[in-house]
Amino acid sequence: MLSNTANGYGLVSKLLHWLIACCIIGLIGLGWWMVGLSYYDTWYHRGLELHRAIGIVVLLMATVFVVWKILSPSPGLQNELKPWEKLGARVAHILLLAAMFVIPLSGYVISTSSESGFTFFDLFEIPAILPKSESSRDLAIAVHYYIAYGLVAVVAVHAGAAIKHQLIDKHGTLRRMLF
Ligand code: HEM
Repeated sequence: MLSNTANGYGLVSKLLHWLIACCIIGLIGLGWWMVGLSYYDTWYHRGLELHRAIGIVVLLMATVFVVWKILSPSPGLQNELKPWEKLGARVAHILLLAAMFVIPLSGYVISTSSESGFTFFDLFEIPAILPKSESSRDLAIAVHYYIAYGLVAVVAVHAGAAIKHQLIDKHGTLRRMLF
């Protein structure tokens, strides 16, 4: 089933969820690793190019995820959840959805803040569209850094809750997102 139903996620949402999750977790690891490289390391430029290009892919997938969510609404949260668990899940989903956009967009602002574009997997150039600005670059660096590392905590709670509701409470929560 491609679409979501009242009781379960469809293939499109599941595929996008796991592709976005893997890319974001990979990008946080890559970002942490590449900023420690020396300028003369072979991966100094290659790592950054990959980080930027995969970030653009996340932005595109996040857009499709949200458009699909409007066309094919997500199933409601499970009735077995207590009210505070429902509230926590809703807040976590909103934070995760916001981060899917804020992290790549702030990365774009950092990368193009000197009015030059960057390559998308050596296929074509992503152009700079914003005027040069030191202050927006500094703000984007702070946003990109704090939201990316803050997301690690949100993902840990989100994944931990899904696993706990699957394995301990036996609500079948994780199975809803599996294939
Ligand atoms: C960067 C990583 C992740 C992001 C950005 C992310 C994002 C999201 C979002 C936005 C939703 C809500 C979907 C909707 O209804 O609109 C969701 C649902 C879900 N996620 Fe994740 N997620 C991530 C990682 C994980 C991991 C690691 C697990 C499990 C180990 C997981 C398990 C689930 C499950 C089971 C649901 C469905 C919950 C339900 O409504 O029953 N997610 N995720």
